[in-house]
Amino acid sequence: MKVPPSGMCLYFPVLICCWFSSRVHASWWYMGSLGSQVMCDNIPGLVNRQRQLCRQHPEVMQAIGVGIKDWLGECKHQFAKQRWNCSTAPRDHTLFGRLLLRGSREAAFVYAISSAGMVHALTRACSQGLLDTCSCDPTKKGTSQDAKGAFDWGGCSDDVDYAIRFTQAFVDAKERKERDTRALMNLHNNRVGRKAVKRFMNLECKCHGVSGSCTVRTCWLAAAEFRQTGDYLRKKYNGAVQVVMNQYGTKFTCAHNIFKKPTKNDLVYIEESPDYCIRDHESGSVGTGGRVCNRTSRGTDSCEVMCCGRGYDTSRVSRTSKCECKFHWCCAVHCKDCHEEVDVHTCKFQESGAHL
Ligand SMILES: *[C@@H]1O[C@H](CO)[C@@H](O)[C@H](O)[C@H]1NC(C)=O
Ligand SMILES: *[C@@H]1O[C@H](CO)[C@@H](O)[C@H](O)[C@H]1NC(C)=O
Repeated sequence: MKVPPSGMCLYFPVLICCWFSSRVHASWWYMGSLGSQVMCDNIPGLVNRQRQLCRQHPEVMQAIGVGIKDWLGECKHQFAKQRWNCSTAPRDHTLFGRLLLRGSREAAFVYAISSAGMVHALTRACSQGLLDTCSCDPTKKGTSQDAKGAFDWGGCSDDVDYAIRFTQAFVDAKERKERDTRALMNLHNNRVGRKAVKRFMNLECKCHGVSGSCTVRTCWLAAAEFRQTGDYLRKKYNGAVQVVMNQYGTKFTCAHNIFKKPTKNDLVYIEESPDYCIRDHESGSVGTGGRVCNRTSRGTDSCEVMCCGRGYDTSRVSRTSKCECKFHWCCAVHCKDCHEEVDVHTCKFQESGAHL
């Protein structure tokens, strides 16, 4: 077992017990793999309040389940070039294995983006009329004003506030059962995620009036593509703040001056991350052995960084792509199939260089 590198544990011995206590992790993530056949009693790891909400709102659960692949895809996109790439263990009901037992920066991100993803999915489902409990935002009525002047509310504005309330009730129910530092970390990051979606609401308008003169506008608020939320949370991940609990166990504080004080929009974490270089059961790291790396890059996807100095293997693979495309009047494009040989570099598995 790795001892946390910072000296905090010396001053806060209570934290050590919490850091390493094993607990079942937010398993509503597992709902994605159950598809539409969500059975509230069969999802492991839900707390009573979550089961209750699940039974009361089966159609909401379905929307949440469908949304999981969106935020998971976004997580993978954001971390595609990193050692930790948001990979999941499909048959593991915690989805991320042991990885998130540690209160790391990566855990902070996953809690935030999953909460954000739930808000986004429910917001969309409400506007599409898929849910009984919500529809368009009822407060967006009458006229209003933006930089371009007055407009009428019309169409269907996304009811992000309903989605935020439901997500809070459902996701946070689990953390409210605990009073430890980790639970507070999760609650904080869940909130950052929920609020993130609300930052990216676009006013979309339709023009009316003589030949599109736009003398009259009808507008509605629509949640932007989830990519914007993903980009935002990725920046928050980069700037995440390491925290400890104050001595009363009521809020986060800075242990030493080296820690930046977190604002309510910062992601917070309580433990250093492993380096994710090698497969390690304890930390849940799957390692970077076998990962594709880029020999000419100087970033995190470079072979030096990705392979952690273990070196890489090179194999030549032939790829087929469309080429020499010609446009034919009218309207077709004809291409040739071109074969090219490219070198693919993959990280070695072990320090010794032996290829497993
Ligand atoms: C992410 O990492 C896992 C484990 O190393 C690997 O199997 C998977 O292919 C990686 N995904 C991408 C998109 O590189
Ligand atoms: C590798 O990195 C270089 C430099 O960043 C980039 O131009 C190139 O497209 C990358 N290659 C692949 C296959 O991603």
